[in-house]
Amino acid sequence: MLRTTHYALLTSRVTDTALVTGGAGFLGSHVVDALVARGLDVVVLDDLSGGFPDNVNPSARLVRGSILDVELVDSLFNENRIRRVYHLAAYAAEGLSHFIRRFNYQNNLIGSVNLIDASVNHDVESFVFTSSIAVYGVNQLPMREELVPSPEDPYGIAKLAVEQDLRASRQLFGLNYVIFRPPGRLWRGIQCRGRHAL
Ligand SMILES: NC(=O)c1ccc[n+]([C@@H]2O[C@H](COP(=O)([O-])OP(=O)(O)OC[C@H]3O[C@@H](n4cnc5c(N)ncnc54)[C@H](O)[C@@H]3O)[C@@H](O)[C@H]2O)c1
Repeated sequence: MLRTTHYALLTSRVTDTALVTGGAGFLGSHVVDALVARGLDVVVLDDLSGGFPDNVNPSARLVRGSILDVELVDSLFNENRIRRVYHLAAYAAEGLSHFIRRFNYQNNLIGSVNLIDASVNHDVESFVFTSSIAVYGVNQLPMREELVPSPEDPYGIAKLAVEQDLRASRQLFGLNYVIFRPPGRLWRGIQCRGRHAL
């Protein structure tokens, strides 16, 4: 018992931590670099289904696991003082998502809800969600933030559902959030790593 207590004290962290999901992926690894450059303690949660360990900045701690693993997510929040969440983990399959509906909603919607729940329960200061212009659907050009979203595929529907769940979580639980909706292929010209080069 004494040993366990000592171990818990030694390993417990008092510094503020940023959690980056999908931090071994293309965009997430750049977010990790930016946070590390600002001196933040960074934990990356990534199941490596699409990302690579080599993408992760060596100053960040990589936890290999899924946002679907509620116990793992809870343990990360219990063991670290996570103040900010940058949620980028997703399976990005716009047109293809019609054919992997269950997987798409499980991974991209339920996985996000797991993180939102943990963020509410642990009083996270800021939740940054990477949505997509897929929320607008087609034939809504030019795309502007004032447009009423009308996603046409399960990928966009899941992204919009997460946006709406964040809105509800702010109203009911006070969770602060930021949503950004990057367009696909915006990133041509950004320095890419290894197997993620476009
Ligand atoms: N790249 C773009 O042009 C673009 C455009 C719009 C939106 N987005 C969104 O930005 C985010 C990042 O996209 P990206 O281009 O870097 O993709 P990416 O595939 O390079 O990165 C996604 C990362 O999420 C991880 N991941 C997937 N499911 C996971 C799970 N269940 N648990 C833990 N980790 C998981 C993957 O292993 C991967 O490392 C995604 O949410 C995507 O929908 C990207």
